[in-house]
Amino acid sequence: MSDKVKLAVIGIGGMGGNHLGSIQKLDNCELVAVCDIDKPLADKKAKELDVEAYYSHEELLKSKVADAVIIATPHYDHTTIAIAAMDAGVHVLTEKPVGVHKLDIEKMIAAHERNPKLIFAAMFNQRTVEAHKKLKKLIDSGEFGAIKRINWTVTNWFRSQCYYDGGGWRATWEGEGGGVLMNQCPHQLDLFQWFFGMPKTIRAFCSIAKYHNIEVEDDVTAFMEYEDGKTAVFITSTGEAPGTERLEIACERGKVVLENHKIIFHRTEELVSEFCATTEERFGTPAVWEVDVPIKEDKGGAQHQKVIDAYVNAIAKGTELIAKAEEGINSIELANAMIYSSMKNETVTLPLDGNKFYDLLQDLIKNSTFKKTVVETSKEVDMSASF
Ligand SMILES: NC(=O)c1ccc[n+]([C@@H]2O[C@H](COP(=O)([O-])OP(=O)(O)OC[C@H]3O[C@@H](n4cnc5c(N)ncnc54)[C@H](O)[C@@H]3O)[C@@H](O)[C@H]2O)c1
Repeated sequence: MSDKVKLAVIGIGGMGGNHLGSIQKLDNCELVAVCDIDKPLADKKAKELDVEAYYSHEELLKSKVADAVIIATPHYDHTTIAIAAMDAGVHVLTEKPVGVHKLDIEKMIAAHERNPKLIFAAMFNQRTVEAHKKLKKLIDSGEFGAIKRINWTVTNWFRSQCYYDGGGWRATWEGEGGGVLMNQCPHQLDLFQWFFGMPKTIRAFCSIAKYHNIEVEDDVTAFMEYEDGKTAVFITSTGEAPGTERLEIACERGKVVLENHKIIFHRTEELVSEFCATTEERFGTPAVWEVDVPIKEDKGGAQHQKVIDAYVNAIAKGTELIAKAEEGINSIELANAMIYSSMKNETVTLPLDGNKFYDLLQDLIKNSTFKKTVVETSKEVDMSASF
């Protein structure tokens, strides 16, 4: 009998389909089942891969064929399925966003607390990018000194109308609970909290359907303040082309720019505050070196595979995860707070009151008059351009 971790994937559309390929490349686990409410799709994949097909997570969990699952269904179902899996004694790796709103994630965390021996992981694959790993290491080491200001522009998530029309759940309050903040930006919002921690206040402006026929936000500008006085501006959009992804950090040691997977550190000779306080030159500025920070090459775009590999090793050998699912509450709190601030026209102080956001979301769902256009296309899409 194989001692490999027995994995099942729940939701085998675009992303879940991609995970099936990743699992085939790993030698520490074996795929034992696929599960999708789309019966023909589940049957087709099961036949191709010579594994069992299930058409609901309940049936899959009842069968006890899997030690661990990967959940790649639309977002709302992450909560229901993850809780059911953990209560059935099954390890969970859930796709991002971990859930749609803070209350749901608190329920998932409670399920993990009931079953503390299980591994509960999140697919924050962008944490495996070498430039992100290096930036995190340098921030944590104190190399940049105190951070004063963060400017992050993430407008390279361009999505066409055809993308939004390709799934009934996409870009509606009922289907995914938000737009760019809930679907594309969970990655950067996770990195944001991973690098800088959580702000104290958020004031955001979210444009609804600025570029697309959808009912949720596709353009956002948020201003955040931290307890220690640092500030941040986070901008995102799915309507601009060519987009930009640029993170600029003003710090005591100068300025850091992360762009195109490169980190340039404009390092001042002295701390900026020391120079400011001691120079006798009225219009002087500190001397600066431009440092091209060495970064390992990212190999083969296998971000998701690395997260799955770490998940399986955490189950089999107790090693570290790339991201614990509990940490997913932060990116959701940021996204929920941005939508809440914009809709209510107010500054939100964190921690966000999860009940207030939940009530707002229920109102948006109840009062929706949006008629969704769905153009059926194959679910077996090439996801390589999606990340
Ligand atoms: N980490 C990443 O880089 C990344 C990229 C894309 C999507 N995602 C995430 O993956 C998830 C799925 O997105 P997608 O683009 O693959 O969507 P998709 O619509 O292509 O696929 C979703 C699949 O789930 C199935 N499904 C729906 N409800 C189900 C249920 N209750 N039980 C079992 N199967 C169910 C659908 O039939 C479909 O096959 C989303 O949460 C999304 O945010 C992550």
